[in-house]
Amino acid sequence: MNNEDLDGSDPQVDSSGRVEDSGSRVEPYESLASIYDHVMRHVDYGHWVRYIDNLLRDVCENPRQLIELACGTGNATFALADLAYDIRGYDGCEAMVRIADEKSRGDGRGVAFEVRDLRDLHDVAPAEAVLCLYDSMNYLLEISDIDQALEQIHGVLIQGGTFIFDVCTEQNSLLHFDGVVDVEQGPGFRYTRRSDYHHGDRLQVNDFDIEFDDGRRHQETHVQHIYPIDVLRERIDASPLRLQSAFDGFSRRPGSERSDRVHFVLQRND
Ligand SMILES: C[S@@+](CC[C@H](N)C(=O)[O-])C[C@H]1O[C@@H](n2cnc3c(N)ncnc32)[C@H](O)[C@@H]1O
Repeated sequence: MNNEDLDGSDPQVDSSGRVEDSGSRVEPYESLASIYDHVMRHVDYGHWVRYIDNLLRDVCENPRQLIELACGTGNATFALADLAYDIRGYDGCEAMVRIADEKSRGDGRGVAFEVRDLRDLHDVAPAEAVLCLYDSMNYLLEISDIDQALEQIHGVLIQGGTFIFDVCTEQNSLLHFDGVVDVEQGPGFRYTRRSDYHHGDRLQVNDFDIEFDDGRRHQETHVQHIYPIDVLRERIDASPLRLQSAFDGFSRRPGSERSDRVHFVLQRND
């Protein structure tokens, strides 16, 4: 056996003589993009955006122009367009944007999607509100990334504009995503997701192994930083944006470490 034989991307022969292809490692969402909507089929995006719509109306008289960052395949973006918002979607992963774009062209909705890292929005036109939903901010692994994103988002908000984002809490990881293995299948694929929470460094690690019927097999590792709520409050205080409220889940109760998810509402008032 030479070193190439040890490479995970080459087919291996197991003890029973069966040829196994252990697949290839790809970037987060690169392969998941094509099955993302199936994996997320349990999510009620309509309910989610009605909640966001209500939060926006609390702080803004008649918000119309929105930007959604880390929009993924555009599920919330389209649901907000259905509420008559003029919305643009941006995501850091090209494969996710491609799916969003195909869906937009496919049904003629005309929502524009582009690839942008939420830490670099220098050429993005301003809007009345910016959204970053479904624990996408947790993908920013360093405090300096959070600071940079808040600074950039401030730059694309008009005066008085609103930024809404949500994060997952440690309770969510401990209750639902620690030492959990899901095996699922859908049309033309099956996948295994192994979720582990690393307490010491507060990292939520989700490993996906995706096998397609055409023989392709890909592995991706998703790492999210589960920030303490107080740390996020500190970063917001240190940013040019002002915290209006932090809500528990999809409610109007105060968000806390006992929440599974916290929605933050920030404003640009400078
Ligand atoms: C859990 S998905 C949520 C997608 C979408 N918001 C939804 O509700 O379905 C997280 C998304 O964050 C994106 N993402 C992660 N880090 C990012 C970054 N630094 N800049 C832009 N997008 C990022 C990923 O590509 C992915 O589409």
